[in-house]
Amino acid sequence: MEIIIQPTADAATQVAARIIEKLLREKPDAVLGLATGSTPLPLYQALIAMNLDWSKVTTFNLDEYIGLPREHPQSYHSFMWENLFQHVNIQEANVHIPDGNAKDIPFFCRQYEEQIQAAGGIDLQLLGIGTDGHIGFNEPTSSLASRTRIKTLTQQTCKDNARFFGSEAEVPKHVITMGIGTIMEARQNLLLAFGANKSKAIAEAVEGPITSINPASVLQMHPVAKVCIDEPAASQLKRADYYRWVYDNKPDWQTF
Ligand code: F6R
Repeated sequence: MEIIIQPTADAATQVAARIIEKLLREKPDAVLGLATGSTPLPLYQALIAMNLDWSKVTTFNLDEYIGLPREHPQSYHSFMWENLFQHVNIQEANVHIPDGNAKDIPFFCRQYEEQIQAAGGIDLQLLGIGTDGHIGFNEPTSSLASRTRIKTLTQQTCKDNARFFGSEAEVPKHVITMGIGTIMEARQNLLLAFGANKSKAIAEAVEGPITSINPASVLQMHPVAKVCIDEPAASQLKRADYYRWVYDNKPDWQTF
């Protein structure tokens, strides 16, 4: 794991934007795994401002609420088009977001996995983290080998996401999410976390044991996992000074 601690969320966002910019310049037909929520919003704004060429890029989103109409303002479909896709030259046919209204969801999930494979696999998977350590919507106790499937959100996640809806009761309780096994197959994982409310989940993910109780901890097993966080999110890390030292002394020749 590479732990990149930046003074502010803005600075951490810029680091993440440069990582994605580099990938898109080196590999214009890259396959990106994308996330929604508050964390990647400034990153999407930064990427839009960079005027990159998205014409050959393919994307797969991590997750979607089940049963929420696609046009609902809080569907992840709406989120992605409003906050990223409509502002860049991506081809609609190259955008993949789980269909929370699919008639046969298990079939849809299998197809989603096949589409990822057919696209050549994900080059870079962007991740946020829940206060309970979830990545995608793989909640605590999710199988570390899981594939794209239906999950039930924890009460904590419903509470956390109530801010996007009128009330907690309006947050759909079921979702489709890429599995942890799916995420682990991405060639690179880039996890972002900002704010003190993420500090416990980050400390457990980075310095705790690998356990499905904190699904993000599985990234310790990933060969190319970057964790890009601000100081408040880093505040419970015991070895923060070491991570800063490593990053500050990272040689130019070190690609990862
Ligand atoms: C969203 C997703 C989730 C979020 C996580 C953090 O597509 O997969 O894992 O990344 O719930 O959400 P925010 O960024 O809103 O704190």
